[in-house]
Amino acid sequence: MMVLLKKVDWVVQGDKMRLVFLGPPGAGKGTQAELLKKRYDYNHISTGEVLRQEIQKNTDLGKEVESYVNKGELAPDEIVTKIIKKWLKSLNNKKGIVLDGFPRNLTQAEYLEEDFSVDYVLYFDLEENEIVERLSNRLYCPQCEKFYNLKYNPPQNDNICDKCEKELIKRKDDTPEAIKKRLAVYNKNTHPLVKHYEEKGSLIHIDASKEIDKVFEQVLERIGLEETKI
Ligand code: AP5
Repeated sequence: MMVLLKKVDWVVQGDKMRLVFLGPPGAGKGTQAELLKKRYDYNHISTGEVLRQEIQKNTDLGKEVESYVNKGELAPDEIVTKIIKKWLKSLNNKKGIVLDGFPRNLTQAEYLEEDFSVDYVLYFDLEENEIVERLSNRLYCPQCEKFYNLKYNPPQNDNICDKCEKELIKRKDDTPEAIKKRLAVYNKNTHPLVKHYEEKGSLIHIDASKEIDKVFEQVLERIGLEETKI
């Protein structure tokens, strides 16, 4: 079956929106953002991914944030806001934008609001037991950075990337201790943003417990794009 993606005429141009993906660790923010990038050519930045790349390259910035990221704590606001500022400056503004994992606290939200307008904040809601299940089973390819899940989205061959045939590895912050810490940090610092954006009228609720394709259908519908199956 071929799937065609079609714009709905009567809504805002969904393929050029400025979106924030908010939600607990492992809710599928990165998975959905990558789908928007692949299928609708969105610009996608994951602040977590940028920080992990800096750590891998052993840059000064990487050295500075390594212990925060690996333990599941937030990196300092000054560092993350600098990354976002540089990225936003470098963008092709004709495309849609997904900020994945930024803002993550009220200070970062206020920083963003100073000179960037967000159309919608998509809140990926998922229960804690499912979060732990997803993160404990997550693996990724160190070469192409594609994410897999041993339970829900496994590679074709055991622990080997379908694309580059590299051995898949676990993220350093997907240990039981770091997952626990990330959840606590999320509940204390990031979850208050749900109310913040609700009050601003820009929050869209996404039920992240469904299968990947079903969650993507919700995303498309909420931002005004629809998928047509022929
Ligand atoms: P970051 O990389 O942003 O991690 P996170 O927010 O904890 O989110 P994850 O990447 O773990 O999960 P996700 O929601 O993207 O889920 P995914 O699609 O992978 O941040 C890492 C660290 O960087 C932070 O802890 C912090 O230290 C630092 N950092 C980042 N931003 C910062 C900021 N703004 N300020 C300060 N510090 C910052 O999916 C998870 C798994 O589930 C995968 O295996 C996937 O295949 C599977 N899956 C996805 N969707 C589904 C589905 N619908 N059904 C079944 N399985 C699914």
